[in-house]
Amino acid sequence: MAKVNDNYLKLPGNYLFSTIGKKVSAYAAAHPDKKVIRLGIGDVTQPLAPAIISALHSAVEEMGNAATFRGYAPDLGYEFLRNAVAQNDYRDRGCDISADEIFISDGAKCDAGNIQEIFSVDNRIAVCDPVYPVYVDTNVMAGRTGVYDKAAETWSDVIYMPCTAQNGFAPELPDKTPDLIYLCFPNNPTGATVTKAQLQEWVDYANRVGAVIIYDAAYEAYISQEDVPHSVYECQGARTCAIELHSFSKNAGFTGLRLGYTVIPKDLKVGGVALHGLWARRHGTKYNGAPYIVQRAGEAVYSQEGKAQLKEQVAYYMRNAAYILEGLKEAGYTVSGGVNAPYIWLKAPGGMNSWEFFDYLLERANVVGTPGSGFGPSGETYFRLTAFGSYENTVEAIARIKAL
Ligand code: MLT
Repeated sequence: MAKVNDNYLKLPGNYLFSTIGKKVSAYAAAHPDKKVIRLGIGDVTQPLAPAIISALHSAVEEMGNAATFRGYAPDLGYEFLRNAVAQNDYRDRGCDISADEIFISDGAKCDAGNIQEIFSVDNRIAVCDPVYPVYVDTNVMAGRTGVYDKAAETWSDVIYMPCTAQNGFAPELPDKTPDLIYLCFPNNPTGATVTKAQLQEWVDYANRVGAVIIYDAAYEAYISQEDVPHSVYECQGARTCAIELHSFSKNAGFTGLRLGYTVIPKDLKVGGVALHGLWARRHGTKYNGAPYIVQRAGEAVYSQEGKAQLKEQVAYYMRNAAYILEGLKEAGYTVSGGVNAPYIWLKAPGGMNSWEFFDYLLERANVVGTPGSGFGPSGETYFRLTAFGSYENTVEAIARIKAL
């Protein structure tokens, strides 16, 4: 008789952004006269840059011609894109990463969720609290997280590393030794960053205890300050302890196109086994490669025009971030983030918890944000706003919040 994977039954509620989506749709359906402004999920709103559109058109033409048509993509990605990534995101920044250590995929969310498959179910994970919920949820599905404490909203086998106002939303080295350490900087949801020296401490720690860092660099394009690292491979020794995840969604607006990549250096071994080979085996077996036209669009991200256009696009969103940050400060909120990241992290006012504030803001200002508790127990009294809206909607949302 068939049995389900009952780890799925342990998951509390739905995926965070599905829950929010349902609540907002229900509210909008019940109040068709209201203009709801969505600053919840970190989804981009600006159209794709002209250099990317042009690359897509050319690739579509190639696909319509027998001489240039392409079928299955190489499962680890086309050379042209792997070379462009290695050159621009690594070698130009002084990081020792080669094209054959890059695995192209259809996005960082899938890789963030799937990467745990190549590790034993006995491994203990450590996560920043709060953080992107995919890391914990996918380890729950794999049966790696122990028992759920409903009151505390924590899993018994997960090491939570609180990121609070006291520590500047940067985690401290954990008391218990983890096997896998998820780090995400610039952080989703707090927008906090670590300096290169702080990240070096994590790399040294991981090498010392034999842990693997899974470093999510999805928001690196938003870094504006000098001493904030764009990649974990800027740190000495990261090749032997770190995997890095990248997205094209946030830096180039690919949320609807889907493209990402994962870096696994060939020196990274666990118990003498190279993780590069395991991930290549997994990719080859379970994945047929990102679409050719999308990989050509990804290549255009690294062209001279693409770089210039995307710099402007990032600046557009960061103008929103600055507007939200300043506006909320003026309104008396305690806020952080928004300087090296497109997320603004604020303390819910008046003793409200994060879901109470979510309802309050939706009903009173018709503005949607993301409740901090959805990212972990330390987010309980916090709230996240995204800078990915249009400038006009951002200005209107802040005016409504100020008027409350
Ligand atoms: C977020 O809002 O946290 C992100 O957009 C979710 C994602 O990138 O999958």
